[in-house]
Amino acid sequence: MAERLLILGIDTSCDETSAAVVADGREVLSNVISSQVAIHERFGGVVPELASRKHTEIITRIIDRAFSEADVGTSDLAAVAVTNRPGLIGALMVGVEAAKAVAYASRLPLVAVHHVEAHIYANGMVHELPFPHLCLTVSGGHTLLVKVHDGWEYEVVGRTLDDAVGEAYDKVAKLLGLAFPGGPLIDKMAEGSSAAPIVFPRPMARSGNFDFSFSGLKTAVRYYIDKQAGELPREAIASGFQEAAVETLVGKAGRAARETGARCITITGGVAANSALRRRMTEEGDRLGLPVFYPPMSLCTDNGAMVAGLAYHQYRRGEVADLRLSASASAPLE
Ligand code: KG4
Ligand code: ZN
Repeated sequence: MAERLLILGIDTSCDETSAAVVADGREVLSNVISSQVAIHERFGGVVPELASRKHTEIITRIIDRAFSEADVGTSDLAAVAVTNRPGLIGALMVGVEAAKAVAYASRLPLVAVHHVEAHIYANGMVHELPFPHLCLTVSGGHTLLVKVHDGWEYEVVGRTLDDAVGEAYDKVAKLLGLAFPGGPLIDKMAEGSSAAPIVFPRPMARSGNFDFSFSGLKTAVRYYIDKQAGELPREAIASGFQEAAVETLVGKAGRAARETGARCITITGGVAANSALRRRMTEEGDRLGLPVFYPPMSLCTDNGAMVAGLAYHQYRRGEVADLRLSASASAPLE
């Protein structure tokens, strides 16, 4: 049997410090994720400077743990992969410098990974996906519809024109007095609600293209709240917001899949954890005769395993970087 190709993957693009060891792009030997939620919670959002400082403080330990949990060392690796774009610049730089240090000390090649491409790849680590597929990437920073061709080549077919859907979830949660990040809390409140949902507008649902806009929906919720006297019907607001957001995502993703000739639909990113989105997307897939795939939770939110996974394919194509590698805050999907 050919020897397995092991890659260390590092992601520090936002508020999770993560390192993982993955064999042959799929087999997760370790995937250590340290969330900074407790640090940013009281500010109601991620504070970039605090994120960079925390990454700096713990990155070495997180990498060490990724090695010990996988029971391997640097001599077992073929390469070191790191997310170098897009994300919070100071946060990205911590991961990039740490990856360079490991690569330099162990004379290993570096692989530079695009964060959104890694999210898109996550489903490929656990499912046999037919190509082309339509991927809905939904996180705190991104809302994208991408047609994914064989060989992991991307064609963006739709994107948000303003807020990302996760960002809208977090802002609405704040209006409802919920903690940060509010997405999971709104999800829970909406799922447990027996109140009739408030009907909010479906942003751009009827536009002919596959683009999204979530800032108007958030504003509609704010106006509704501002008009209320007395106690807020929080459950009815949460479930109404969730219905409007999910219906828009599912409607556009379904139509994009059909019109682009996709053979399945994949969902990825932090909001892929949303229960209503999972349920409604699966129903839409059944209606269209298309399978719908989600990654397990550990591969949904930011993690090093998806970075090491995708890097395997880049490494095999000879796409390696050198020690001059730098980070960039923004980078369109190519
Ligand atoms: O992918 P991710 O961990 O980080 C980014 O790259 O942004 O996504 C985090 C986002 C947050 O906005 C969070 O509120 C949202 O994902 N999220 C959810 C749920 N779980 C996480 N949104 C709605 N429902 C959920 N169950
Ligand atoms: Zn992400």
